[in-house]
Amino acid sequence: METRRVEFGELADGRRVPAVELANGNGMSVCVIALGAAIQSLKVPDRNGRVADVVLGYDDARQYLQRPQYFGVTVGRYANRIAGGRFVLDGWPYRLERNDGPNHLHGGASGFDRALWKIESVSDGPQAKVVLRHFSPDGEGGYPGALDVTATYSLDEANTLTVEYRATTTRPTIVNLTNHSYFNLTGDAGNTDVMDHRLTLFADAFTPVDEMLIPTGERRSVAGTPFDFREPRAVGERIRDGSDEQLRIGRGYDHNFIVNGPPGVLRPAARLEDPHSGRVLELLATAPGLQLYSGNFLDGTTVGKSGRIYRQGDGLCLEPQAFPDSPNRPEFPSCRLDPGEEYVSTIVYRFSITAG
Ligand code: GLA
Repeated sequence: METRRVEFGELADGRRVPAVELANGNGMSVCVIALGAAIQSLKVPDRNGRVADVVLGYDDARQYLQRPQYFGVTVGRYANRIAGGRFVLDGWPYRLERNDGPNHLHGGASGFDRALWKIESVSDGPQAKVVLRHFSPDGEGGYPGALDVTATYSLDEANTLTVEYRATTTRPTIVNLTNHSYFNLTGDAGNTDVMDHRLTLFADAFTPVDEMLIPTGERRSVAGTPFDFREPRAVGERIRDGSDEQLRIGRGYDHNFIVNGPPGVLRPAARLEDPHSGRVLELLATAPGLQLYSGNFLDGTTVGKSGRIYRQGDGLCLEPQAFPDSPNRPEFPSCRLDPGEEYVSTIVYRFSITAG
């Protein structure tokens, strides 16, 4: 295992962005940048041993702030949407920024994706590991409580990347952290899209949304719908089914799936396979839900790594998270965090290959 501290570049205001590369003996490596505690690159071998980058992103640090598509970043304090940018906790009303029409999305302007995290420690051993830390003061972005957050990335020799989020608060609050990587297992994003990738979701139900992508409160069975990925299906097979109201609203997939099994326990959430390269990603998580987002807002105006234009469907996000708008939905699993407790959320990305 190997770890290396590098410089990723500099922001418009002159702040430097340090980064850490974790690498194992099988050719797999990940570059984590302090800006947004983001996965900037993730290099994985295919069935012929050819190593390529399987996530979308930027080459230049400034672009992460200029055109936030949330490529690979840590999203917080609350990933996804909160209706009307408001919620009530213990009888107290709180107002958050409305940065997605009338709603709050991904923590707003003080979101953790825009923060320069502190690289707290880097270590080798059976795992290559980096710990990043971020402190968000009481009231920042309208959220109650000072939040002390760590994001730990570790890579092992079995080609498993584990991300663990931990947070504590000084006042009762809400927390929902996730990683927003866009995967393209061809390793050729910007030339080849992900519509052929075969996706399995360990979810019998999902939460339908209204026109503003806020859950209606319904839990709907995936049976007989384009949301049924209980058996492997090509991502693009039913994505253009215009008879499906939910696909029309999302312009594709932009929906929260209810992961089977108890939240808080690490369990399979998704499996993604690229039949061409043979790369396979198995995703396990402790969060109650998984947002499936098919890059619908990539409209050809974003120039990503290697100078390629990203368009709809060029990457697929699999974001383990609390259900969207949970703070306003007592019937959804709670995203509440109290002083004296610790928020812990784990995501495991396990890479392997399948024969052709
Ligand atoms: C999430 C949301 C999408 C979109 C992306 C960022 O996945 O669900 O609607 O906002 O983030 O572009």
